[in-house]
Amino acid sequence: MNGKSIDGGLGRILTYVRISVTDRCNFRCRYCMPESGVTQLDHSRIMAYEDMLFLFETLVSLGVRRVRLTGGEPFVRKGFVPFLGELRARLPQLSVAITTNGSLVEPFAEELGKLQLDGISVSLDSLDEADFRDITRCGSLSDVLSGIRALRKYSDKVKLNTVLIKGFNDHQLGDLIDFARSERVLLRFIEFMPLDSSVWFQDSFLSVDHMIGRISDGGGWTREGPSLSPDSGPSVYYRNDKTGQRVGFIAAVSHHFCHSCNRLRITSDGEVRPCLFSSEGESLLPALRNRDREELVRSILSGALRKPDCWTDLAVGENHMSRIGG
Ligand code: 5AD
Ligand code: SF4
Repeated sequence: MNGKSIDGGLGRILTYVRISVTDRCNFRCRYCMPESGVTQLDHSRIMAYEDMLFLFETLVSLGVRRVRLTGGEPFVRKGFVPFLGELRARLPQLSVAITTNGSLVEPFAEELGKLQLDGISVSLDSLDEADFRDITRCGSLSDVLSGIRALRKYSDKVKLNTVLIKGFNDHQLGDLIDFARSERVLLRFIEFMPLDSSVWFQDSFLSVDHMIGRISDGGGWTREGPSLSPDSGPSVYYRNDKTGQRVGFIAAVSHHFCHSCNRLRITSDGEVRPCLFSSEGESLLPALRNRDREELVRSILSGALRKPDCWTDLAVGENHMSRIGG
């Protein structure tokens, strides 16, 4: 390590990087994409796996300790699992997690288990086949459930994420909690973030306080104290007094954590996005392709410094999770 770190301003040192390996997705979730889909990046503009490995080595030399690979849907990209293997082999000290919609993972579950990933987050917004198809516009719930069960067989790092939206899937809150208990996986509820003005609807927003109110209604849930780990992220957890089940809540909107944000995002075409809500970023692609380490470091550092004080300073634009990664 060369003693450098990535400064995000306001005393925020960025040690956690989320990289989208592809902007493509086999789902078209209503809250993520407009009906027409989003313009897809041309393959020639996407970082090659070798580019990404060079990038990760550079990031580690800048003090990055954790990465999360996201999409779009990462398993849509050919060679994703062998790439994870190569990443593990080259940078064994780096914590590596993935986010997936779970629909394509079943055949890879055993291999993924062997890679001992530090986290596998699967998005699950409904347990009703018809609702699920409606929300994702084309996804199959049974594929996702088989994916979750297969992953669970080989890894104890599987988590479920649900974006809870009023009048959409909030009636499933109790069923989702029961499902997570029976599968013995950790479930986290996430607030719907106003990323894209064409799919965001204010009336549908449910705050974490509201969600917690709903589960606490029947009593029997106790809030856990804050985690002592500096890398624990912004979730709060509740534990069921009887069953011991834990459920997490991520208040990305109502109690935003911008002042302590340690994240940097990189899109699949190699743009540094200092915030999920930033609509432009510094392109790393030329430096990556030339294997120009110095220029790469310069661009990463200058991209990171563009982190806003808080996302509420930025206008709601046309950012799609499929491009930036969750
Ligand atoms: N707000 C919150 N989460 C979102 N996701 C996609 N769009 C939004 C949004 N507007 C989630 C997906 C998935 C992760 C990659 O991001 O459900 O869990
Ligand atoms: Fe749905 Fe995630 Fe794909 Fe967006 S990227 S369409 S949220 S599965």
